[in-house]
Amino acid sequence: MYEISQLILLLMLILILTPAVYASYTAAPFIPTKKGDIARIIRLARFKKNDLFMELGAGNGRIMLAIAKNHPQIKVSGIEIHPLLWLIITIRILINGLGKRVKVKLDSFNRQNLKEADVIYCFLMPKPMEKLKEKFKRECRKGTRIISRAFPIPGWKAQEISAGKNELPIYLYQIK
Ligand SMILES: C[S@@+](CC[C@H](N)C(=O)[O-])C[C@H]1O[C@@H](n2cnc3c(N)ncnc32)[C@H](O)[C@@H]1O
Repeated sequence: MYEISQLILLLMLILILTPAVYASYTAAPFIPTKKGDIARIIRLARFKKNDLFMELGAGNGRIMLAIAKNHPQIKVSGIEIHPLLWLIITIRILINGLGKRVKVKLDSFNRQNLKEADVIYCFLMPKPMEKLKEKFKRECRKGTRIISRAFPIPGWKAQEISAGKNELPIYLYQIK
């Protein structure tokens, strides 16, 4: 017979692993963007006052929090499917006192409407980028900037590609 503590441990493992496996299968496992890439992302984003920055698959919140701290005049929204990562981001938002401007949703970005976003950031696998392309076409407003690390949007011509020696490329697109 299992002890109650073993059952709780098993339940916790299932709760942590199921979304991680699902996320890996549908879009990407959790691999954070390198800290050294944040400056390149910020440069490509060309933030304007009151912009809404949206991160699809926000991981541990590294990018959205760095951007929120760097740009006090923009709003930041993250969507993360993994409950543990979502909890980590939620705690980091509270600790940094950013709750008024920075929000994170526990959900799939496939269920999130992108029409309010001015700048979108994603670091996902090539297959979800293909699917997201259709979503970008349907929902994004003209002028929305989309930044993708490592993988391009298939079939779209990037407005700019930030690349360097030993660095992964970061692609910038703008909806026309
Ligand atoms: C490669 S990581 C990138 C994390 C973060 N954007 C960064 O650059 O540091 C991809 C993230 O997307 C999340 N993810 C995968 N599928 C998702 C989905 N359908 N909706 C929301 N998040 C998802 C994963 O849990 C993971 O945290």
